[in-house]
Amino acid sequence: MMDDQLWYKKAIFYELYPKAFADSNGDGWGDFRGILERVDYLAELGVDCVWITPFYPSPMGDDGYDVADYYSVHPKFGTVDDLKALIDALHERGIRIIADLVMNHTSSDHPWFQESRSSKDNPKRDWYVWSPTNQRYPDARIIFTDSMQSNWQYDEITGEYYWHRFFEHQPDLNFDNPEVQEEMLKIVDYWLGLGLDGFRADAIPYLFERDDTNCENLPETHQFLKDLRGHMDVKWPGRILLAEANQWPVETREYFGDDDEMHMGFHFPIMPRLYMSLKRGEVSSIHDIMALTPDIPEKTQWCIFLRNHDELTLEMVTPEERDYMWEQYAPDPRMKLNLGIRRRLAPLLDNDRRRIELLNAILFTFDGSPIIYYGDEIGMGDNIWLEDRNGVRTPMQWHAGHNGGFSESDPKALYAPTIDDETYGFQTINVADQRNNPDSIFNRLKHMIWTRKQHQAFGMGTFSFAQTGNDAVLAYWRAYQREKILIVVNFSDEAQDAVFDMRLMAGHEPVCLLTGDRFPFVAAKDYTLPLQPYEYRWLRMD
Ligand code: BGC
Repeated sequence: MMDDQLWYKKAIFYELYPKAFADSNGDGWGDFRGILERVDYLAELGVDCVWITPFYPSPMGDDGYDVADYYSVHPKFGTVDDLKALIDALHERGIRIIADLVMNHTSSDHPWFQESRSSKDNPKRDWYVWSPTNQRYPDARIIFTDSMQSNWQYDEITGEYYWHRFFEHQPDLNFDNPEVQEEMLKIVDYWLGLGLDGFRADAIPYLFERDDTNCENLPETHQFLKDLRGHMDVKWPGRILLAEANQWPVETREYFGDDDEMHMGFHFPIMPRLYMSLKRGEVSSIHDIMALTPDIPEKTQWCIFLRNHDELTLEMVTPEERDYMWEQYAPDPRMKLNLGIRRRLAPLLDNDRRRIELLNAILFTFDGSPIIYYGDEIGMGDNIWLEDRNGVRTPMQWHAGHNGGFSESDPKALYAPTIDDETYGFQTINVADQRNNPDSIFNRLKHMIWTRKQHQAFGMGTFSFAQTGNDAVLAYWRAYQREKILIVVNFSDEAQDAVFDMRLMAGHEPVCLLTGDRFPFVAAKDYTLPLQPYEYRWLRMD
């Protein structure tokens, strides 16, 4: 498996916050050694690739996405050797690991920026984007709408403004400068040389700026990414680039190039539509967004997710849909953040087991590779009273004991408080209990993952919708070589029938992959599949 060049098309990904997973030295912060002690857990769940969020030295003004040194490790997480040991331990179990590559910006603490801001003729001046006015690029939107008023920040030292798409302490690097581009390739070589299997390329739509544009998805950006990919193909075949481009499908499509840019890209717009459809008991928006999703090159792959470390983004929906989502899923104003919702999967779904399973049943069968957000496999809760996105980044809940098994430290020394309310507290929701309970969410997801892995159709196969004659029921085919699998999901809280064209079913006797149940085929009429509220079926056509 480790020498399969298309591994990412079949892989189950797991996003892991190094700070939040396991603390090995009792200082209240998770670290690499802590993760290393838990690699068997990841193997048991069936994870094929871990995505680790930024671990570089950083003032942590954006939880590590504000990098102060690209060639080292934040001391709280350990050392480069600890990371190497973690990479080796994962590889021994057949698990790969990718990391965030934050190219668009650095921390304002980064020595490059310190030099750049020190004077207008400093050799590093041109590593960042400076302007005598704050009026340039007026069409570039503001991303952190809750905290930023402008993408320009005045700097007193030289009396000019610097450009930043995120927080004001995250100045954007100037990709027009060939030195910046070269430096990025060096950074990539350094970490791939250490054994990383690739990168989640953070915030890539914004690398270049041009007048009279919105400064997103520019041709220059694609050209640089193609150069980066070309470099990796020569030096590091089999290592991947995963695009974080929160864009509409036609725009994200461009990041796949002609199989010569990014290997993977998140499908952002599908995600809120899954939640929306679940509330409405009606699935047309899923059909609609897939109709707007172009085909992608053969060797590339979408990445599908339900939640991640950021707010549940509502950038890729209409204003009306956004209001609907806020109304339905963010009843308390604390739950809103920027254009999104800062809650985890289980609380979004009212801790309703059927709906949690339903969305996961889609995650593991839809068009793309699934990414699990740490803790969602046990249905962890959130803490909306923490600032920014910290409420969805609380300590992993391993058992019902001290600090939920996350750390030996004094609870007051934890980087963030554990969740300890009655419903979601570590006393109730934790790995140890769920491992022992065959009916737990953990074991159910583990079974889904195991089942997915038995069938190439999910990772390698084609995707097409099937008509069900019922707006509440989503159905789609996954097919590869001689294998055909039909996924049928009832988004309604009431029992529903799905009716399939009998020509499609002729000669088949569907078998449910998850339960082994057989569904006798009645030849004379259309095939009717009765479904319980929120029921899902993965049917192999035998
Ligand atoms: C990351 C965020 C981060 C931002 C700026 C995003 O794409 O997911 O967590 O704040 O990039 O780096």
